[in-house]
Amino acid sequence: MKKTFRIAPSILSANFSKLGQEINDVISSGADIVHFDVMDNHYVPNLTIGPLVCEAIRPITDAIIDVHLMVQPVDRLIADFAKAGATYITFHPEASEDIASTIELIRSHDCIPGLAINPPTPLNYVEEYLDQIEIITMMSVNPGFGGQSFIPEVLDKLTETRAMIENSGRKVLLEIDGGVKANNIGDIASYGADVFVSGSGIFGTENYQETIDEMRQNLAPHLNQ
Ligand code: DX5
Ligand code: ZN
Repeated sequence: MKKTFRIAPSILSANFSKLGQEINDVISSGADIVHFDVMDNHYVPNLTIGPLVCEAIRPITDAIIDVHLMVQPVDRLIADFAKAGATYITFHPEASEDIASTIELIRSHDCIPGLAINPPTPLNYVEEYLDQIEIITMMSVNPGFGGQSFIPEVLDKLTETRAMIENSGRKVLLEIDGGVKANNIGDIASYGADVFVSGSGIFGTENYQETIDEMRQNLAPHLNQ
């Protein structure tokens, strides 16, 4: 079966004074997904954006909005993000009091649930909840800030997770998040990721179209792997 690769610019690195235009620019340049990083100054030491901003951007694009919750507690924000138009909602299992019920809560609000796995976190959570989720966000930086360097030790976890997904027979997306740039995206694809979050790797460049084209070119050899 032919693979599909999806590019998900993280708006954390966008120019917030013209956020709508930034989103339109990356989507019209060929990106697929808007990655929306929610940080609470508690689960991670940074504070970003919430449901109000999600609601504001929802009408300006048809793209999927991939809400990455780096918050604790998790559950009380889910209804608000669902109402604000989130498509995927991923959360960190360590931040949830009851992982299965958080997943169920996301589904009950007609959103698509996923788990985000930190670099030091083992794959037990993936193993245990794989049959209940639709997307795994493998963190390749410690969550909290954009612009950090890719942690190469995570590549082996990608390979292992890809194998688990194939064994399950389910079509779970495998997203990589942190330090992804045009010059490492091809290599990362060869380890099994199929959704690529990139914040500074896109919004930190001069020409989004050129950057996303270069990413597609570097992904192309891995499409038939
Ligand atoms: C990190 C966030 C990432 C990050 C990606 O906590 O979850 O989505 O913003 O940004 P870059 O691509 O700059 O590492
Ligand atoms: Zn993220």
